[in-house]
Amino acid sequence: MKVDVLLGLQWGDEGKGKVVDVLTPRYDVVARFQGGPNAGHTLEFEGQKYVLRSIPSGIFQGDKVNIIGNGVVLDPLLFKGEAVALEASGHPLKERLHISKKAHLIMPTHRVLDAAYEAAKGDAKVGTTGKGIGPTYTDKVSRNGLRVGDILCNFEQKYAAAKARHEQILKSMNFEYDITELEKEWLDAINYLREFHLVDSEHEINGLLREGKSVLCEGAQGTLLDVDFGSYPFVTSSNTICAGACTGLGIGPNKIGNVYGIMKAYCTRVGSGPFPTELFDETGKTIRDLGHEYGAVTGRERRCGWIDLVALKYAIMVNGVTHLIMMKSDVLDGFDTIKACVAYNVNGEEVDYFPYDITEGVEPIYVELPGWKTDMTKMTSEDEFPEEFNAYVTFLEEQLETPIKIISVGPDRAQTIERYTEE
Ligand code: GDP
Ligand code: IMO
Ligand code: MG
Repeated sequence: MKVDVLLGLQWGDEGKGKVVDVLTPRYDVVARFQGGPNAGHTLEFEGQKYVLRSIPSGIFQGDKVNIIGNGVVLDPLLFKGEAVALEASGHPLKERLHISKKAHLIMPTHRVLDAAYEAAKGDAKVGTTGKGIGPTYTDKVSRNGLRVGDILCNFEQKYAAAKARHEQILKSMNFEYDITELEKEWLDAINYLREFHLVDSEHEINGLLREGKSVLCEGAQGTLLDVDFGSYPFVTSSNTICAGACTGLGIGPNKIGNVYGIMKAYCTRVGSGPFPTELFDETGKTIRDLGHEYGAVTGRERRCGWIDLVALKYAIMVNGVTHLIMMKSDVLDGFDTIKACVAYNVNGEEVDYFPYDITEGVEPIYVELPGWKTDMTKMTSEDEFPEEFNAYVTFLEEQLETPIKIISVGPDRAQTIERYTEE
């Protein structure tokens, strides 16, 4: 069987959690391959809303195996909070959730280092989620990290050594902090983590594939936050692109099947960094209000703008996207006209590719399309789509040279419309 990958094509928060939940019944396994509790994946069904940070979004659909892969960074304390709340709401996890022993641990001092590095950057700060993501991946790459498997043997010693190293750095930065309480709770959460299936997930996944099982990989963040291909340095610290599923789970590239790229019908970004189609006017504010564009985890206001086809083409290219999924089209239901950026004006020159540097001098060139002015939130089939909406979808498919397979018209699991596409 093949492995399908579902990932964000913009700056995150495209609606990945919702679609993973919708698609899970078609798979045997759902696996997260990168990122950590910087993610906030929202799911809504039966009048309930859940926000998942480290736990895969397949956890609500029957007895599927859910895997936290080696490419993920895990904060035991935040994980415990998430897991205990899910169990309390009647969603048992312990049998269904497997965690890679090779996933790296986010320590309390990683969070402090995240804050210290951001403070040191001043106005140039990345605007991180403050969850210690960058410092944890830094330790991984510099071969100083602690892994989940380390909690099974001599953990106290390893923890003390890593902490001492962090303390030295923080001292040299004159950064003041107090983690006494946090550390106690964190060490307690390590004991909780020991109650889970800690596995060699690469063996498990490849074994399941040999048995004919199917796997859906759930990306976190989005392509424009990828550490190599995103708007560096305003990015996260992992490979959010499709290739990240291979390194973050131990899957050969020849096993990858469909690549589902998710995008909003417009675009958002949270944190600092360039965003060529950002709107600073009433339209941007309207999109934010109608789309409830506030961070699922941090509550931060998301910056809003029109869809950027230049950036999306780039994202489709670096991921090998086979199918697109368009979210939140309902947010544009009331607009008279809708704009789509088809090229950039870079210092007077028209450019239709995503340039090395988008920080300055990049002006979007827009095409304007008529709005559909119809409430689509209760629609259940593409046969009901208004003409102008179909025209918008066809325009996007032509520009992006990729079929749009699913259209989401509201946050609920049920507000999802699959289109008839040829396979
Ligand atoms: P993720 O990080 O990619 O999983 O996305 P988030 O959960 O951070 O943000 C997506 C937000 O949009 C959540 O609040 C979802 O409940 C909501 N959402 C998802 N799909 C739709 C949709 O089609 N329409 C509307 N109005 N909201 C949606
Ligand atoms: P999901 O999975 C949106 C952004 C942060 C910041 C940058 C680096 O819900 O789509 P980090 O804490 O990772 O070092 O922050 O990346 N960021 C996200 N933005 N959605 C996310 O996840 C994000 N995870 C990180 O705002 O700009
Ligand atoms: Mg999110």
